[in-house]
Amino acid sequence: MKETVVSGIRPTGKLHLGNYFGAVTNFVKMQYDYNCFFFIADLHSLTTHPTPQDLHGYVRHVLVEYLACGIDPEQSTIYIQSDVPEVAELYLYLNMNAYMGELERSTSFKDKIRSQPDNVNAGLLTYPTLMAADILIHKATKVPVGKDQEQHLEMTRTFGNRFNRMYQSDLFPEPHAFNYSDNLVKVPGLDGKGKMSKSEGDGNCIYLSDSPEVIRKKVSRAVTDGGPTEENQAKPEAIQNLFDLMKIVSPTDTLNHFDQLYNQCAIRYGDFKKQLAEDMIVFNSPIREKIEEIAKDTDYLRKVATEGAMKAKENAQKTIREARELIGFKTF
Ligand code: ADP
Ligand code: TRP
Repeated sequence: MKETVVSGIRPTGKLHLGNYFGAVTNFVKMQYDYNCFFFIADLHSLTTHPTPQDLHGYVRHVLVEYLACGIDPEQSTIYIQSDVPEVAELYLYLNMNAYMGELERSTSFKDKIRSQPDNVNAGLLTYPTLMAADILIHKATKVPVGKDQEQHLEMTRTFGNRFNRMYQSDLFPEPHAFNYSDNLVKVPGLDGKGKMSKSEGDGNCIYLSDSPEVIRKKVSRAVTDGGPTEENQAKPEAIQNLFDLMKIVSPTDTLNHFDQLYNQCAIRYGDFKKQLAEDMIVFNSPIREKIEEIAKDTDYLRKVATEGAMKAKENAQKTIREARELIGFKTF
């Protein structure tokens, strides 16, 4: 029996290179070795109160982009979270044994209190129980996510084990974070600090659907400095970030060439950025072309979403039936 894998991305916009290298490439590789469920976490995105049009548009983007990146609906189950209401039912059961103290201690919740003090809703507090429901509903053991999600997985294990103990069952196995490389990938952004993230603005992100002109413009505006003044000096964060991006998209020779120029204080950032932009375009182009092609095919998207929902529901219903029986909801 193949192990089960679950992962999802919140539809809050288009996917960027960070989402691609941090999450989606793992999805694509895993689909051949595991029983995979990849979903679009639209229920999770309700915490930010999107308009109906935005919500639908973002869900569509992620679906198209999953397919364009190579997630194959013949290999894995691709579905939209809200098409499987069994997830919301399990969320309710898990919430009965999720305690205020532990939910309040979650770093993602604490971050939200800081970043959006005017919208600290119960959905944000219970985000980890919904995420646990996503994973436990399919009895997944492997979850491909970035480092930022490790605490949520720890909480998922706590909630699953607590349910098992309470009902003296072994319904839920323990899920663990999974990544093919030893180091969890962090793709830097263009603004000179930290990771590529939608919340840092569009200028910080290269989206998979960005055209060559947009990529050239964004990279040309990336933050740099006055240039190295001493040979072999350490690179400040903004410069290191651009080198890290080059490492991801460019051939090793190109990276070494600019590294050498930097070390000799002979680098010209204009040339460096031009090369980085061109290599990003080469990398992005095939994906962007697929995005444009798939986005036109609404019948295909509908077919993928409908079939994915059916497969995900069938599996989710089995788990819910078992959970209901254990809880004591019995039929007369
Ligand atoms: P964003 O920060 O743009 O809102 P999300 O939080 O929606 O991105 O991330 C979705 C998935 O992509 C997660 O699995 C996350 O770990 C991964 N991810 C996002 N940004 C990066 C990045 N810069 N580097 C590596 N992985 C990332
Ligand atoms: N919390 C994840 C993120 O912000 C998205 C997510 C929701 C998820 N449910 C999940 C990821 C279940 C993996 C498994 O990126």
